[in-house]
Amino acid sequence: MSEKLPSVGTAPSRLHEAIRYSSLNGGKRVRGLLVYATGYLMGATDELLDVPACAIEAIQSFSLVHDDLPALDNDDLRRGKPSCHKAYDEATAILVGDALQMFAFEQLSKATHSAEQRLNMIRILAEDSGSTGMIGGGFIELDISGKSCSLKDLEDLHWLKCGKLIRASVLLGAYAVTNPDNDMLSRLEQYAYGLGVGYQISNDLLDSMGKLEFLGKKPNSDETVGRTTFSSEFDRSIAKKRMLDLFDESLDALYGLDRAEPLQLITKQVRDRSLSVFN
Ligand code: IPE
Ligand code: MG
Repeated sequence: MSEKLPSVGTAPSRLHEAIRYSSLNGGKRVRGLLVYATGYLMGATDELLDVPACAIEAIQSFSLVHDDLPALDNDDLRRGKPSCHKAYDEATAILVGDALQMFAFEQLSKATHSAEQRLNMIRILAEDSGSTGMIGGGFIELDISGKSCSLKDLEDLHWLKCGKLIRASVLLGAYAVTNPDNDMLSRLEQYAYGLGVGYQISNDLLDSMGKLEFLGKKPNSDETVGRTTFSSEFDRSIAKKRMLDLFDESLDALYGLDRAEPLQLITKQVRDRSLSVFN
């Protein structure tokens, strides 16, 4: 990603510095790893996967830069450092997010894949990031803040807000190699649902249970801004059980597949990180 982003020397220099500050900052890179792990499952080599991995991580970084803004979660810390709007200013952070989003699609459009593959990847990333995906989830989250919510509705929200970009990650990894058949598509959908929704439940639990050093951001940020989450709505044991069941469903989706170890490992590592706060 570092090689593909404009250098700090490229004008406007301060904007590019802020873009690099916000995206090359030690995130866990789960979504990028999912592109590589799914590509491996489909028999690909890494060169085919670098661009989609970079695109998905650019979208993820954009979403976090905007998510931390005062109008949304108002978080001063991200990945252990001042959030973009704190290190720079709010206007710069808005433009950094905008630019990262454009960068993602520019990269996909210029990739060495066939025109059909590029179009598929662009479509999937746009749909899953947009108003019926991640951004739609962010809107619904604001809308229901402070209100109670059923488990089903909260799970639907988590699917949009977090799950859809996880889905885009695995589908990009697949379509970067070859069009998956129907069996593979439904397995990847199930894998992404279990991991994506489980991951957001874990994020809710960690926010209310983790320490600053572990989270890289202030704990209890959801409660501070009145978000409706699995922690605010349900007993911790219920949330934990649903999260673990979802991770199991994601692993079940891979049953019998060759070359699925990297995808299994990602779910297991996300699960272990989630469980570490319970010990
Ligand atoms: C992140 O959501 C923003 C989007 C995916 C739209 P959260 O607010 O739940 O995540 P953290 O806790 O800030 O990382
Ligand atoms: Mg947030």
